[in-house]
Amino acid sequence: METVVSGIRPTGHLHLGNYFGALRNFTKMQHEHHCFFFIADYHSLTTHPTPEDLHGNIKNVLAEYLAAGIDPEKATLYIQSDVPETIELYLFFNMNAYIGELERCTSFKEKIRKQPANVNAGLLTYPTLMAADILIHRATKVPVGKDQEQHLEMTRTFGNRFNRMYGVDFFPEPQAFNFGEELVKVPGLNGSGKMGKSEGEGNAVFLADEPEVIRKKLMRAVTDSGPVEPHQVKPEAIENLFDLLKLVSKKDTLDYFEDQYNQCSIRYGDLKKQLAEDMILFTAPFRDRIKSLLSDDAYLKKVSSEGRDKARESAAKTIAEVRNIIGFKSF
Ligand code: ADP
Ligand code: TRP
Repeated sequence: METVVSGIRPTGHLHLGNYFGALRNFTKMQHEHHCFFFIADYHSLTTHPTPEDLHGNIKNVLAEYLAAGIDPEKATLYIQSDVPETIELYLFFNMNAYIGELERCTSFKEKIRKQPANVNAGLLTYPTLMAADILIHRATKVPVGKDQEQHLEMTRTFGNRFNRMYGVDFFPEPQAFNFGEELVKVPGLNGSGKMGKSEGEGNAVFLADEPEVIRKKLMRAVTDSGPVEPHQVKPEAIENLFDLLKLVSKKDTLDYFEDQYNQCSIRYGDLKKQLAEDMILFTAPFRDRIKSLLSDDAYLKKVSSEGRDKARESAAKTIAEVRNIIGFKSF
């Protein structure tokens, strides 16, 4: 049994990309491993320093995590800011992380390009906070998408450096992990790239979207004027729609549209209508559960406070040992 940690920032609703890329993995892993899943609300302040409704966003993501199948009896589900021990470990890692290596991090370079007016120290130290999230439970497996590989590499660097500096073998080397399959990249609806909440309006289908919203998003999805030769190679926007059919539709449906495409008789309007209906069916159970969970404050409170207690218990053990290793001792 391995110890597993993963988190998602509460910067918007969870979408099908988060589901197929991360959450589906979490729900499978919770049966076999010792899992901690958390809502990375501290991290969200690096890009959204003054969120309009931080508590509301956290509540939505908590309900969406649960609706997607995370079982709080099996996994520890908690909110990052409920576990201050993480911040103490973050402080220790910051003492041993070099400005140069943090500045070279790809996600930092990308963020300073995206938000040149807010290049804050939290952005620079995003990787040390993420290392603290993972190593506070001394986790060995981290289910995340491909975009997080470099952060995992840095986590190993900080853990190994700590071990070397203090002459201990305390932190393990956590690895990015996908449940027996290759890493998934779910495409968005705007013709290119991945599905994401910051990839533009209408690009992502959220687990909580109402049927009418899904239909509208699909009608606006990018296509082209259609194939002109039989068995023509699909351009990216069309391939993306087929990739989405593969995720949510029946094989018959996929085969039907493949044939239509290959015979140049495809009508993208029909494909998009069918894809919308299949997404509506696929997300229906999530949508219903999200609604009922959001109206059950008592349950959300219970889940988050039990999660906090379990996470703090694990975190406190690590911090006590870390303090002892560094030399902080009580009189
Ligand atoms: P977003 O890109 O929407 O801001 P996050 O960065 O919060 O999403 O990602 C949370 C988790 O979901 C990460 O593990 C990430 O790898 C995964 N993820 C996000 N979008 C996709 C996608 N389109 N395909 C596969 N995995 C994804
Ligand atoms: N950086 C991750 C993302 O953007 C979120 C995250 C923060 C995380 N801390 C983590 C993921 C610890 C896994 C483990 O998706």
